[in-house]
Amino acid sequence: MAIQSPEGTRDLLPDEAKFWAHFKAVAADIFGRYGYLPIETPLFEQTELFVRGIGEATDVVSKEMFTAISGQNLQTLLDGGSIKAKSRLSLRPEGTAGVVRAVVQHDLVPQGAQPAKLMYAGPMFRAERPQKGRQRQFNQVGIECLGAEEPSVDAEGIIMLMRFYAAIGIPVESTRLLVNSMGCEACRPAYREAVRAFMAEHAGELCEECNRRAEINPLRAFDCKNPGCAAVMEGAPKITDHLCDDCRAHYEAVKAYLDGAGLAYVEDSKLVRGLDYYTRTVFEVQVTEGMGSQNAIGGGGRYDKLAQEVGGRPTPGFGWALGYERCVLALEAAGRAFPPAARCDFFVACVDDSVRAEAFSLVQAMRDAGFAGEMDHQHRSLKSQFKLADKLDAAQVAVLGPDELAEGKVKVRNMQTHEERLADLAATKALLARLSAEPQGFEPPSIDEVFGA
Ligand code: HAM
Repeated sequence: MAIQSPEGTRDLLPDEAKFWAHFKAVAADIFGRYGYLPIETPLFEQTELFVRGIGEATDVVSKEMFTAISGQNLQTLLDGGSIKAKSRLSLRPEGTAGVVRAVVQHDLVPQGAQPAKLMYAGPMFRAERPQKGRQRQFNQVGIECLGAEEPSVDAEGIIMLMRFYAAIGIPVESTRLLVNSMGCEACRPAYREAVRAFMAEHAGELCEECNRRAEINPLRAFDCKNPGCAAVMEGAPKITDHLCDDCRAHYEAVKAYLDGAGLAYVEDSKLVRGLDYYTRTVFEVQVTEGMGSQNAIGGGGRYDKLAQEVGGRPTPGFGWALGYERCVLALEAAGRAFPPAARCDFFVACVDDSVRAEAFSLVQAMRDAGFAGEMDHQHRSLKSQFKLADKLDAAQVAVLGPDELAEGKVKVRNMQTHEERLADLAATKALLARLSAEPQGFEPPSIDEVFGA
């Protein structure tokens, strides 16, 4: 059998690959208006970065990371030897840790500087059990803002994400925005203890995994998919009843900004997110129908301690990431399809082989002038050249035959109206030559104008 793509990965075929490029361009345009600039970081980092940044006890780090290892180091390990910490590498399971590492390493937010607003788009890797909407390699678009702790940063980041979903075609009414606050190092420890004590009281009703979680990271139990655990955790203490004054004020201010922007949201005190770096604001955007259990199309929050965790000076941060593939599923659920990738302004058809060289040069001249087009490369009959032009959805077909050529003419058919006319070949070529001298990116005239309609 022919070799297939690895489990949990997907090829983006041309229509979709073009849509992904469009998706990123719309993101860059919208987020650029909010001051976000692109950053590119490596697809793999030292494993230590993710362990320290995301948290050793998270599923992402403890179960789902792909290790990247050079052939020589692999051999050393297989031989029972050990390798240096800096040679322990992992494919990035998310983008935040790498971006924060880059900000610290390159001192992008010197003391007193304005915040660094950064955006990225690209593949992330998690060794999860693949299912619809859950892949092992998936694409994220994300933003990170480092150097400001004001709630306005959180609010504008969330607003910007919701604007993006609408701009790309995901109906806002099909989404639900959940918000919560995770508190900070001042108020969270006491809250965590309260949850642990509650879980101890209900140990008999909780699954084994949750009882283990109660020891290491009790808040993870809010994410347990077991219906029995979910029912028990409904009665657990709520973080929003345990926030310190500063965290409460921050949370209230974020919500006030969202209210002011007219953005609907649901407060969900059980929203804890799967990564350990969050402080204060956390949020998630879900699609309400047609997506099954993998319905989170984006999420994020504030991480005011992460820069210190990876060895930098205190630098507050806020960010989020959206899942591209889940956005595609949301678009499908809303009945939207990709626009076809290919564009074909014209097709040059040859009546016989004697005009092939002339046709070849006309096609080149058209492309140099900014038009997209094709000719036959397989010696098809005139009839099947027209069929091909139809298939490519060509707007116009220029037919070159020995008789027309002898008179310096070319026959042009508008494929929509079926109107035909004879255009002067020399005049057409002179116009095309003028157009091709124009700088790239100018708006070419319509094909009708080129053929002197
Ligand atoms: P996350 O919630 O783990 O957050 O991932 C963000 C989004 O990526 C999810 O909402 C989902 O749409 C998509 N996603 C996650 N895992 C998969 C998967 N296996 N297959 C397909 N899509 C997936 C983060 O990654 C944080 N770094 C977000 C952040 C940025 N927080 C602060 N700054």
